[in-house]
Amino acid sequence: MEHYPIAVLISGNGSNLQAIIDEKLKQNFHYEVSVVISNNEDAYGLVRANDAGIPTEVLLAKDYLDRQSYDHALAILIEKYSPKLIVLAGFMRILSEDFVNTYYGKIINIHPSLLPKYRGLQTHQQVLQNKDIDHGVTIHFVSPELDGGPIIVQSKLKVNPDDTVDSLISRIHDIEHQIYPQTIEDFALGKIRLENDKVIQQ
Ligand code: GRF
Repeated sequence: MEHYPIAVLISGNGSNLQAIIDEKLKQNFHYEVSVVISNNEDAYGLVRANDAGIPTEVLLAKDYLDRQSYDHALAILIEKYSPKLIVLAGFMRILSEDFVNTYYGKIINIHPSLLPKYRGLQTHQQVLQNKDIDHGVTIHFVSPELDGGPIIVQSKLKVNPDDTVDSLISRIHDIEHQIYPQTIEDFALGKIRLENDKVIQQ
């Protein structure tokens, strides 16, 4: 089995990062988290990475003139670790078109809605306001269009009458923590790839 290094980009709590770390150990997955990169020095995910002995890097927006130069520095940092896949796990920054195009097919994101419904933020609030019956999670390739890249996996849940934003956050997280590590493992096993903008799954 080929070595499958991944870079995980975070901005906050990093519960998905934790699941990626834990499930690898529990299920003997083949991917290896080579680095965790954060745009926020206080992200709790950095503590999680440290505890797991994973190298961390922090790249602050205030140290760069504009998005272009930030993303250039980000790409240099990423290349230092030669990852085969870049995994966005709660990374709260929009990436420039150049950056995304450079890594197209090699960068994935997890989003808390059934895309194309509810791109962007506050997805749970919108689900409740619109009295949706279904809610869920989408894992997709990152393209220059925000939350608009080719969809890899979706997982649904039924919204309960007594659900709140907090209960939905927690129920969505439970799903994310199962499907993100498994999807990354599927990449490591060569089961998923992007060909002519189409997701190929074996
Ligand atoms: C997740 O809900 C993910 O879908 C979204 O950001 C959240 C990150 O949570 N993109 P965590 O930092 O992994 O706990």
